[in-house]
Amino acid sequence: MLGELENLHKLCFPHKPWTAQDFADLKKSGCDIIASQNGFIVYRVVCDEAEIITIGVNPDARRTGIANAMLGIVFGDLKKRGVKHIFLEVAVDNKPAIALYEQNGFVRVGVRPKYYDGIDAIMMEKNI
Ligand SMILES: CC(C)(COP(=O)(O)OP(=O)(O)OC[C@H]1O[C@@H](n2cnc3c(N)ncnc32)[C@H](O)[C@@H]1OP(=O)(O)O)[C@@H](O)C(=O)NCCC(=O)NCCS
Repeated sequence: MLGELENLHKLCFPHKPWTAQDFADLKKSGCDIIASQNGFIVYRVVCDEAEIITIGVNPDARRTGIANAMLGIVFGDLKKRGVKHIFLEVAVDNKPAIALYEQNGFVRVGVRPKYYDGIDAIMMEKNI
């Protein structure tokens, strides 16, 4: 499973691919990972807060609702676990991801200057 995640991550983030070991380390550090053949999402819960660490969908399977479906599963899990606030960061030039998050109720709460190799990150929050 971790090898498949490595391959899928490379398709989604060709300039910053993660290895199977990276995913194993994330799991060991307490992150949750939901993955299917064409998508994955990694998130972490601390008390009543959660962070979406990353989300990716195979380029051949995009715009078919996979990311929306994965976020729906995560929101359900987080509600059951008593999470009240979900946070994430997204590069200011990542229009598809920003649109995805806004459609799912995230709002902009700040900016981290030059967070991604010189590109600003938008900080977003959703209260559930
Ligand atoms: C962002 C990403 C996860 C979206 O996955 P997806 O499965 O294609 O998204 P969905 O089909 O569930 O789309 C849900 C909504 O997101 C928005 N969206 C997704 N892709 C979009 C695009 N290319 N342009 C504009 N809006 C987009 C739309 O609002 C869409 O709803 P709609 O199809 O009804 O208009 C995918 O493009 C991806 O893997 N990108 C590369 C990795 C990445 O940048 N991850 C985010 C890091 S913060």
